Amino acid sequence: MSRVAVVTGGGSGIGLAVCRHLGQQGHRVAVLDVDREAAEQAAEDLRRCGVQALACAVDVSQRTAVDDALATVRGAIGPVEIMVTSAGIAEFSAFTDISLEAWNKVIAVNLTGTFHCLQAAIPDMVHVAWGRIVTIASSAGQIGSPRQGHYAASKGGVIALTKTVAREYGAHGITANTIPPFFVDTPMSRAAEAARDIPSPAEVAARIPGGRLGTVDDIAATCAFLCSEEAGYITGQVIGVNGGAVL
Ligand SMILES: NC(=O)c1ccc[n+]([C@@H]2O[C@H](COP(=O)([O-])OP(=O)(O)OC[C@H]3O[C@@H](n4cnc5c(N)ncnc54)[C@H](O)[C@@H]3O)[C@@H](O)[C@H]2O)c1
Repeated sequence: MSRVAVVTGGGSGIGLAVCRHLGQQGHRVAVLDVDREAAEQAAEDLRRCGVQALACAVDVSQRTAVDDALATVRGAIGPVEIMVTSAGIAEFSAFTDISLEAWNKVIAVNLTGTFHCLQAAIPDMVHVAWGRIVTIASSAGQIGSPRQGHYAASKGGVIALTKTVAREYGAHGITANTIPPFFVDTPMSRAAEAARDIPSPAEVAARIPGGRLGTVDDIAATCAFLCSEEAGYITGQVIGVNGGAVL
């Protein structure tokens, strides 16, 4: 069955792979990203593969922009049935050096941005008594992460928000689950590695029971399953797709 899926951060990394996987499953896909060019490229690539897709340039921390984007999506491909929130930013600073500005920025994008997107999409799902929500959190939100106090707090908030939405909207046929990746090879993790904010991929891989870094397809395949009909009895769960890095 073709559903309408919105993927934030769909222009790159994990979000981009989620767009591909949902498109391959026959869903219509709206790619939301603050990077207009990346969103348009992603939508163009999807269309070339026969997927009904559109791009919206939107900063998820801005509520009006999110509301406008979802109005555009409804007009173009229909009401939102699947919402995947992958838009996010990472910053590294010793805890006592985190400025209020950096704190506010990370919380605004990662946590408040997720709040805006879920709140804007849920009424559509309630209307049809069906919905799938997958938030992309981080292992930092489960186990903490040195020099990432703001990031870890934002992702811990995403996990708690997702569980709350699951409890509140389960009776409406809506599931809400979160995937907290550990270390996935994406532009975000490569930038952190280049800035020496994280150890080399080889060092990280050696600490993962599965012996390798995650791929965007590892995350996207699980996400697509959580968005499927078959996953209707899975809700409020923190689904680790991390090679056993967090047990
Ligand atoms: N890569 C990892 O190892 C890893 C680990 C844990 C969690 N995550 C989380 O996974 C998600 C995806 O990360 P990724 O690794 O694919 O990174 P990425 O940088 O490749 O992709 C993130 C996308 O989000 C977009 N974005 C950033 N700010 C935005 C905003 N305000 N509004 C809309 N879009 C915005 C970016 O333009 C980009 O396209 C993030 O939430 C990240 O925190 C990633």
